[in-house]
Amino acid sequence: MPDLPLVALTRRIPQVCEERLARDYRVRLGDDAVVFTPERLAKHAEGAAALVVTPAEVVGVDAIAQLPASVKVISAFSVGYEHIAVKEANARGIVVTNTPGVLTNATADIAMLLLLGAMRRASEGDRLVRSGAWTGWRPTQLLGTHLSGKNLGIVGMGRIGMAVATRAKAFGMRILYHNRSPAADATALNATYFANLDDMLAQSHVLSLHCPMSAATKGLLNARRLALMPKGAVVINTARGGHVVDDDLIAALQSRHIAAAGLDVYANEPTLDGRYRALDNVLLLPHLGSATRETREAMGMMVIDNLEAVLRGQPSKNVVAI
Ligand code: DGY
Repeated sequence: MPDLPLVALTRRIPQVCEERLARDYRVRLGDDAVVFTPERLAKHAEGAAALVVTPAEVVGVDAIAQLPASVKVISAFSVGYEHIAVKEANARGIVVTNTPGVLTNATADIAMLLLLGAMRRASEGDRLVRSGAWTGWRPTQLLGTHLSGKNLGIVGMGRIGMAVATRAKAFGMRILYHNRSPAADATALNATYFANLDDMLAQSHVLSLHCPMSAATKGLLNARRLALMPKGAVVINTARGGHVVDDDLIAALQSRHIAAAGLDVYANEPTLDGRYRALDNVLLLPHLGSATRETREAMGMMVIDNLEAVLRGQPSKNVVAI
């Protein structure tokens, strides 16, 4: 069917979404194992009207410059779009879209999983049982920390930050947050707003990052700010690895100033600083924030809605503007 528009996807997406695409488009699927260099991405996109990319591909200035002129839309299979050179894409007449809203609950659940796991030492417990070294229940074994009564500092009170706050409130935590401006919804949670991040850090027993990646947030959690946090605090990151200065967080975990961390994201995924692997007090996940069947299907459907609207010349709600 040569007259149907071609959609090129860098990765496989849930079956129900691939089936929907196949009904209305010619489809070129990527191989999940491939690393997409700008050259390879350009070749993969040859003749395509729409290109679907995931957070695993860096679609930087070079990649945009090499894309064939046939590409009218880059539909990101993600809410984050810092991996795409949006300005350069727009300058070439390519619209960029993303998938906001549909991954809020899944990501908030993973933040809670990390928070609980880090505070209750779940990965150490799992390793103890698996290793066969567990000799039985002991009054002083693997003692963690209560969630209830602790202050949770949230950086970025958008949809995901709010969803984490709501969950943590149910566990008896007090909610503090830092945002560009106070969030109206946060009042119902009795949450305390801090215009100044440093002031919030000094009172945060747990810190959870939920801000978008930008020049302003790159490296925001550095040695100076970690030192402001109470001794024994816990750090959770489900946003972007680049928010954290790895050298500084690793040093704080080694000294136990930061008692534990739960990380789902890393600066250069899938590569991560090997020193994290050697630390007992860090719970590491492979960017699972949105990884539920329901969420990935909803993301896939939104990706298709987005590219379809652009190809039909209709307004798409999810055009990324920078
Ligand atoms: C996103 O959509 O940006 C997430 O990181 C994927 O889980």
